[in-house]
Amino acid sequence: MNPLRLARARPAPPFTVTVDGRRTEALPGRTVAAVLWAAGITSWRSTRGAGRPRGVFCGIGVCFDCLVTVNDRPNLRACLVPVRPGDVIRTQEGTGHAD
Ligand code: FES
Repeated sequence: MNPLRLARARPAPPFTVTVDGRRTEALPGRTVAAVLWAAGITSWRSTRGAGRPRGVFCGIGVCFDCLVTVNDRPNLRACLVPVRPGDVIRTQEGTGHAD
């Protein structure tokens, strides 16, 4: 069952963000990680050394596996950042900086 239906949640209307340039619908109150998951994206960064895929691991801001770039700010923890209308979300590789 859909968790929104299960909790009888009635969220405010969705808004649009972009993920790597693709328009994606987001519900208010969700984190960036939740929006990525809802869009079917489970990994959004690669590790510095081996380039291994990473997404959410702990989900509570401890492991730093979920780093993502939001509005040109790299290395934000997707599991902690609330999504906002118009956010520009980008997957990132390595350090997240142009090096
Ligand atoms: S999933 Fe661990 S810090 Fe985000």
